[in-house]
Amino acid sequence: MTTIFRLDSSIRTEGSVSRAVADTLEASIIESEGTATTVIRRDVASDSVATDVWARSAFAGYIPEADWTPEQASAKAYANQLADELSAADVVVVSTSLYNFGVSQHLKAWIDTVITDPRFGPGAETPVKGKPAFLVVARGGGYGEGTPREGWDHATAYLQRILSDVWGLDLDIIETELTLAEVTPQMAGLRDIARAQLAESHENARTAGRSVHLKLRSAA
Ligand SMILES: Cc1cc2nc3c(=O)[nH]c(=O)nc-3n(C[C@H](O)[C@H](O)[C@H](O)COP(=O)(O)O)c2cc1C
Repeated sequence: MTTIFRLDSSIRTEGSVSRAVADTLEASIIESEGTATTVIRRDVASDSVATDVWARSAFAGYIPEADWTPEQASAKAYANQLADELSAADVVVVSTSLYNFGVSQHLKAWIDTVITDPRFGPGAETPVKGKPAFLVVARGGGYGEGTPREGWDHATAYLQRILSDVWGLDLDIIETELTLAEVTPQMAGLRDIARAQLAESHENARTAGRSVHLKLRSAA
């Protein structure tokens, strides 16, 4: 039995590139793993972590449980539930979008809340250490070397830091750029490149999905 933990954070449900590429990846993992696969889903865009949960759970961590307020106890229970879902994963898939040159606030709120659980705090030997993980990123513009916006994506490196360095996941990143080319007249000249990149991302997702079987077996 293989358990995939799948988190989506695009604020779009229709036309989302990150969700579509993550769908391809998930289908490929399931196909190569066989039918005994469970998917735990967490959609932090449609079911967001409430804004007060993180602070309540974080501060509760500094005081004895007996002194928690009912709000702190409830925030701690919620953080524990999020951490349980992630802990159950054999494979982690996180899909996200670049917003205002930074990380999705919904995804950040989820990360901050999970980190309040002692299993996922800095320095912890997390339950997902060494597990295969995939970060699927969609960006409207182009941020490649030599482009005017090189270095303006302030989301991907942060997410890599948390998933790979703080939580110890064995991370691969699948990135798709220029997703706004189809709907932005000024980017019309980039549409062929954008379509090719999107096709390549789906192909990369299929290949990545097939790699999971071997990764899980060699880790066992
Ligand atoms: C509110 C908002 C802010 C955005 N900010 C950026 C940005 O700073 N840079 C960028 O390249 N694209 C930006 N985009 C475009 C998205 O990154 C792009 O549409 C991406 O494909 C969204 O992911 P999705 O297709 O999974 O929904 C923004 C989109 C929205 C809705």
